[in-house]
Amino acid sequence: MGIRSELSRFLGAFGGMLGLLALLAGCGGLGGNSLLGDSGKLRIQSVPGSDQAFPSGFLWGVATAGYQYDGGDQTSQWAEWERARRVEHPIGKATDHWNRWQEDLDLAQDLGLNAFRLSIEWARIEPERGRIDPAAVQHYHQVIDGLRARGIEPLVTLLHFAYPAWLDRPLTGGDGGWESDETVVEFRRYAAWAAQEFGPKVRWWITLNEPNTAGLTGYVAGVHPPGKRNPFAYAKAMDRMALAHQAGFEALHAHDADAQVSINPFIFHRRQHAPNYGTQASHDLNDFSLLDRLAPATVPTREAPPTAQTEKRYLDYVAFDYYYALGFWDVSKIGTFWEWPIYPEGLYEVSKKLYERYRLPLLVAENGLATESDNPRKDGWTREAFLVNHLAQLRRAMTEGVPVLGYMHWSLTDNYEWGSYTPKFGLYGIDRRDSELRRFRTGGAEVYRQVATNNRLPESLLERYLGKRN
Ligand code: BGC
Repeated sequence: MGIRSELSRFLGAFGGMLGLLALLAGCGGLGGNSLLGDSGKLRIQSVPGSDQAFPSGFLWGVATAGYQYDGGDQTSQWAEWERARRVEHPIGKATDHWNRWQEDLDLAQDLGLNAFRLSIEWARIEPERGRIDPAAVQHYHQVIDGLRARGIEPLVTLLHFAYPAWLDRPLTGGDGGWESDETVVEFRRYAAWAAQEFGPKVRWWITLNEPNTAGLTGYVAGVHPPGKRNPFAYAKAMDRMALAHQAGFEALHAHDADAQVSINPFIFHRRQHAPNYGTQASHDLNDFSLLDRLAPATVPTREAPPTAQTEKRYLDYVAFDYYYALGFWDVSKIGTFWEWPIYPEGLYEVSKKLYERYRLPLLVAENGLATESDNPRKDGWTREAFLVNHLAQLRRAMTEGVPVLGYMHWSLTDNYEWGSYTPKFGLYGIDRRDSELRRFRTGGAEVYRQVATNNRLPESLLERYLGKRN
């Protein structure tokens, strides 16, 4: 690859990182607790549209990921990272989902869900370069069949942060992982294989989970593998992940023209109350720069100039993960999951903005709330209130014309939060001191069940939780 094109890609990806700094700097005027109105109550008091129904066929699901759930992965770069003791807690059996998947699928069915996001783990499927493990392949067939047998649509992520450790040792030498062109080539091959193997059973695909988070944690902050703090490595990695997505998109479509393929950036949202937040507010982070590269924005904005509509788009829908919105003083909380600044209106704002920008249907691929172990959150938020308020905001965007395909709550059960068991995200809890890792139901599960089974936000839940934190 020529130096000039490498340089221009570097500048493009590096812009994403600068965007993070710009966004944080731009938050200065928005400090303080703008979430609360004068009364101390949440500002959202009502949601337009009296009928709280969701469209029929709306996908109600949970999001999960192989490495965080399965247990027993020995062959990914994350397994190596853990063996090198770069984590707070050893992973142990994780949730033992590899063995207990039927029980977990039953839990999802009990919630009335009709969708389930899972990842197939490349490191288990191809533990050594070129050797496919038939038992692992069979396992995923059983899980996908098990979902279908329960009337649940599988949404498959091809790569959720973990990848085969052999990718870190490229045949061509040099830096491996996402810094290597070889990884893009291998990913294309893996995606084509997955399309062939699972394509007849799977319609909804996500190629790479949160490439922007993988870039920041792995190549800037150095807290996840490969543990680098190097802007050049970051820029290369962001570029290779975008290329890998494009290759995966092509491979999945070559097999099935109707496949629905996306990628799900983490949305770094800034709290904003400007009436015309839409195209004006700065959101120029590596989340939008990645999407802009894959599906040039249809609406000219300050950040994205007008583009010809004939340009190829590599997204069938826009998937995104929304957890929190930052005010200036919140920056220190990014690393403390149970202090993430919860801001339900952000889901409305982001949905509006993404649709205005890309004019594609949306999927909430992740949204969830962490507690520290099982302690109540200091800010008072409960999972019950979190769910109702976020879903009310999502529906508000839908009543204003934003097409949303579905909502995947992170997550079905407590699981391994990339190095730590302290953050708890589960609709079902798992106590790590319980050697049998029994799943127990939380209040969040009951609320989500009521919404999913009725395909609407029941009045009783709105009365109880709307505009409240608990
Ligand atoms: C990731 C998940 C993670 C969740 C909560 C997302 O960044 O995709 O793997 O567990 O957020 O932190």
